[in-house]
Amino acid sequence: MTSFERREQAVLEAVRERRELVNDAIPEELPVQCPERLYEASRYLLDAGGKRLRPTVLLTVAEALADVDPLSGDYRQFPTLCTDPDTVDVMDAAVSVEVIQSFTLIHDDIMDDDDLRRGVPAVHKEYDLETAILAGDTLYSKAFEIMLETGAAPERTVEALDVLANTCTQICEGQSLDVDFEDREDVTPEEYLEMVEQKTAVLYAASACLPAILLGADDETVDALYGYGLDVGRAFQIHDDVLDLTVPSEKLGKQRGSDLVENKQTLITVHAREQGVDIDGLVETDDVDDVTEAEVDDAVAALEAAGSVAYARETARELVDRGKGRLDVLPENEAHDLLLELANFLIERGY
Ligand code: IPE
Ligand code: IPE
Ligand code: MG
Ligand code: MG
Ligand code: MG
Repeated sequence: MTSFERREQAVLEAVRERRELVNDAIPEELPVQCPERLYEASRYLLDAGGKRLRPTVLLTVAEALADVDPLSGDYRQFPTLCTDPDTVDVMDAAVSVEVIQSFTLIHDDIMDDDDLRRGVPAVHKEYDLETAILAGDTLYSKAFEIMLETGAAPERTVEALDVLANTCTQICEGQSLDVDFEDREDVTPEEYLEMVEQKTAVLYAASACLPAILLGADDETVDALYGYGLDVGRAFQIHDDVLDLTVPSEKLGKQRGSDLVENKQTLITVHAREQGVDIDGLVETDDVDDVTEAEVDDAVAALEAAGSVAYARETARELVDRGKGRLDVLPENEAHDLLLELANFLIERGY
């Protein structure tokens, strides 16, 4: 095994361990209740899988701040940096951000006209449009109820809820830009980066800074962690756009080539257009079910020839390096090292 493979194995194992704990906590925080169809639809994507990267970031930041060995503590009674209270439930916060993630995915698939998610039919396909909209709405408000239960001091709880609310507002603003950009051919790299900061990076930023708020860290630490999340979160979305082009649907768990069909503006297409590539001519169809592997392969070849995939990968790498630099506020420990590796993983993952 090369040292790269060893590092990748270690990070995959760390994510898997936290994912399993988050998966155990989800049914506790979000039991199926009456009306059952609504709650089953709300749980459907959460139960279908997902990498749980945002809760992993949240739990790992908590470990780094408390300076405890990874996985050594009880996330339900996690030591704070103060005495009042002396523990909080950081697992509640982790579940809350994953519930927000799930809400955004359900509504995103409706907007992006995507039928496949986490390897299963999207909620609006498995159920129906009405149920999918309501399931998303239910998860959205449940996330706040769950965040209210961490047991943190009232002023920290209010601050955490403020961050969560602001995050959701920005995700909606970013998604609105994402949709508006479908009709534009003059989107700049700067506009793209602003859009992905809002639609995607803010949830990473919230995941990184929420444990600091709940555990009672100082403002400088909270701000640095927020900045880490914004940088690695933008890089994550750039890599997601690369994966959309390059990874088969079966492995990705969502439809390959969907962004081209939907005329999404990505850093790759924005760069390629600047190089004179005819982006609109890359795929003919406007129905994701009709796009062929050969069409996407040809499109990728044109985008690679223009240097656009390499440009996107380089930009993502620069953002990750900048984000990692912001972690100097944390104590030197194993969890800190894991956050550095997680940042790499966000742009090296294969799906
Ligand atoms: C998908 O996020 C949505 C984006 C912001 C690109 P993930 O790739 O983390 O999806 P899951 O949660 O693992 O399914
Ligand atoms: C999704 O961006 C961002 C949010 C869900 C807020 P994408 O539309 O690229 O995500 P995928 O590729 O469908 O997961
Ligand atoms: Mg989408
Ligand atoms: Mg989208
Ligand atoms: Mg995508």
